[in-house]
Amino acid sequence: MMNYAMGLAAVLSAAFGLAAPLYAASQPETVAPISINDAEIELATEAEAPAHLDGALPKIWSGWLFRDATTQSMQMDDFENPAMVFVDQGLDLWDQPDGAEGKSCADCHGSIDDSMKGVRAAMPKMSEDGTDLWSLENFVNNCRTTRMGAEAWGWSSAPMESMTLAISMASRGMPVDVAIDGPAQSWWDKGKEIYYSRYGQLQLSCANCHEDHYGDWIRADHLSQGQISGFPVYRLNGAGVVSIHERFFGCVRDTRAEPFAQGSPEFRALELYVSSRGMGLPVEGASVRH
Ligand code: HEC
Ligand code: HEC
Repeated sequence: MMNYAMGLAAVLSAAFGLAAPLYAASQPETVAPISINDAEIELATEAEAPAHLDGALPKIWSGWLFRDATTQSMQMDDFENPAMVFVDQGLDLWDQPDGAEGKSCADCHGSIDDSMKGVRAAMPKMSEDGTDLWSLENFVNNCRTTRMGAEAWGWSSAPMESMTLAISMASRGMPVDVAIDGPAQSWWDKGKEIYYSRYGQLQLSCANCHEDHYGDWIRADHLSQGQISGFPVYRLNGAGVVSIHERFFGCVRDTRAEPFAQGSPEFRALELYVSSRGMGLPVEGASVRH
């Protein structure tokens, strides 16, 4: 990690020494859909940029397009997809009673496919009482603590990641569609501010990499637009499931800044803003990244 960080810093100080990007961000060579299980499921990888981006991106593209052919192919067959093991664990947890009330998720919600359809596509959103912005993890833990008498799961713990993956599968193919107006508006404004703020010793914002330089290479990394329509993802590099906030944490840390905590108001606001940059891209359900 240290070597990686130092190498990254060296490349970045060369590549980002100027206020303006050295290269125009470059679009993917092809925008083929992700064709899964011999075309049983087709997920679009390109969508029109939403109006609220004010022209910041010409089109929006799935992170899948920026990965190598080997990584891409793993997401094209559910039997090859290493994330599916964790989806199955999430499905088991869904049926398993836990906590003082002796209830399982299924006892109240019934089938995950029906009851959780579209839920991931609309996250994050306002809490049940409308006073806070909640990520999917908050909704899951709210049911565990207030309705099951069970302990909250850690934000990026194994059971939480398996559960959020299984819930995301119920939205596979549905376009990301988050509310950014009404009570969510001030969260969205805050998220946008964070997205364009420069952090750390390297003084880089999310936009410096994912808006100004997608399509370019940082060492072995082909930069994407940093969309979260594929999350939670299975990462080959680390061999495990990675949540949205875990990925944000890693990206901020790479600028040599002190990241916000996973689950913090800052990262939930950022999640809403980044989700909104991907409105129209389909939820991938269980995606694979390097
Ligand atoms: C005692 C009944 C009960 C149990 C057990 C329960 N829930 Fe819930 N859950 C609810 C109710 C009621 C709501 C709020 C109304 C709704 O959205 O259905 C809710 C809401 C949710 C939401 C937000 C849905 C949305 O559209 O906003 C998620 C996600 C969720 N539950 C996941 C879970 C998971 C995962 C478990 C198991 C770990 C679980 N719930 C266990 C009753 C329950
Ligand atoms: C120094 C450049 C850099 C900065 C700054 C940066 N990232 Fe990243 N980010 C990367 C690289 C490299 C990857 C891995 C390749 C890719 O998917 O773009 C990545 C991946 C991601 C991904 C995963 C995309 C996918 O499809 O799997 C997300 C989401 C993301 N970044 C969000 C952010 C956010 C939000 C910020 C600001 C807090 C940020 N990044 C700041 C370099 C950066």
